[in-house]
Amino acid sequence: MVKPKDIDFYSLGFNFIETKTMFVSDYKDGKWDKGKLVPFGNFEISPASCVLNYGQGIFEGMKALKAKNGEITLFRPEENGKRFNFSAKRMLMPEYSLNKFLDAVKKVVKANEDYIPPYDSGGALYIRPILFGYGPILGVASTDEFKLIIYTVPVGPYFPEGFKGIDLEISKRYTRAAPGGTGSAKTICNYAGTMLPAKETKERGYAQILYLDAVMMEFIEEVGTANFFGIINNKLATPRKTGTILEGITRESILVLASKKLGLEIEERDISYEELFEDSCTEAFCTGTAAVITPIASVTLEGKQRVFNKREPGETTKKMYEILTSIQRLDIKDEFGWIVKV
Ligand code: PLP
Ligand code: COI
Repeated sequence: MVKPKDIDFYSLGFNFIETKTMFVSDYKDGKWDKGKLVPFGNFEISPASCVLNYGQGIFEGMKALKAKNGEITLFRPEENGKRFNFSAKRMLMPEYSLNKFLDAVKKVVKANEDYIPPYDSGGALYIRPILFGYGPILGVASTDEFKLIIYTVPVGPYFPEGFKGIDLEISKRYTRAAPGGTGSAKTICNYAGTMLPAKETKERGYAQILYLDAVMMEFIEEVGTANFFGIINNKLATPRKTGTILEGITRESILVLASKKLGLEIEERDISYEELFEDSCTEAFCTGTAAVITPIASVTLEGKQRVFNKREPGETTKKMYEILTSIQRLDIKDEFGWIVKV
């Protein structure tokens, strides 16, 4: 384990670094145990466990930040708790009480406080709750034993480009989620399938894929790890919730901030990829806990590229980033009641 004093908090990327403590709770005989903090470490698992064989697993992603005055903040953690339970239900796993979830998250953050990057580094302590089918199984069905773990990792920006724009490739070959599937649940299976497309697009020089809907191959869905936004005809447009996109908490917050703080008209609707190639689309960005707000410099489909705003972050993108991160770091008043202090 790396000691906090040996970590350069000012040059972190989004890579695994072991921290001191994790929270573990087991579900057996129809109930959750009390759960406890333990040193971060390996555990044994049956080769026949449900998660290893059939992918019965979900996760969440949250961040703890250090404010200027040293306080530790979480951003809308109850929303993560609710989505955790939504995902658990979809994957036929037991829910975890929201209060216990929040309590466990706070405890893990407190226990790993020394690993929270300083305010001026711009980094965060990423919090990763996972829940999976632990017990052995052979036929395709749920197990009845589950494990919940919450661990933490100090992180910097998800995309090495940081607040510079990323280049995305629109795929007409791969899709991420289909209607009736698991796209809006944060199940590990959704991510396994995006690894090959992500590797291939990186080899072609793009940061990530911008996925289209699986039926028409026409409407923008999302980036592999973040939600999509565009300024189209001076309105803030984002794909509507169809059950195939992950319904981001940052996405939801951006919609509130755009209308309440910037007075922007917002549209949750089907967005054809063709709209991104028209002059009426003037800016694009993507949002997520890990990605925060990442400007999109260009999109490319089958060799045809559209560059936004000379590759510079657009005015709205910059304003949204400023407002969101200022609320998260207690630099401005949290008028929406989104911050939970640890
Ligand atoms: N879309 C996908 C596929 C994601 O993995 C994430 C990250 O959690 C998001 C969108 C953004 O969600 P949130 O803003 O809740 O982090
Ligand atoms: C997040 O933003 O928290 C995510 O889960 C995205 C990714 C790291 C999988």
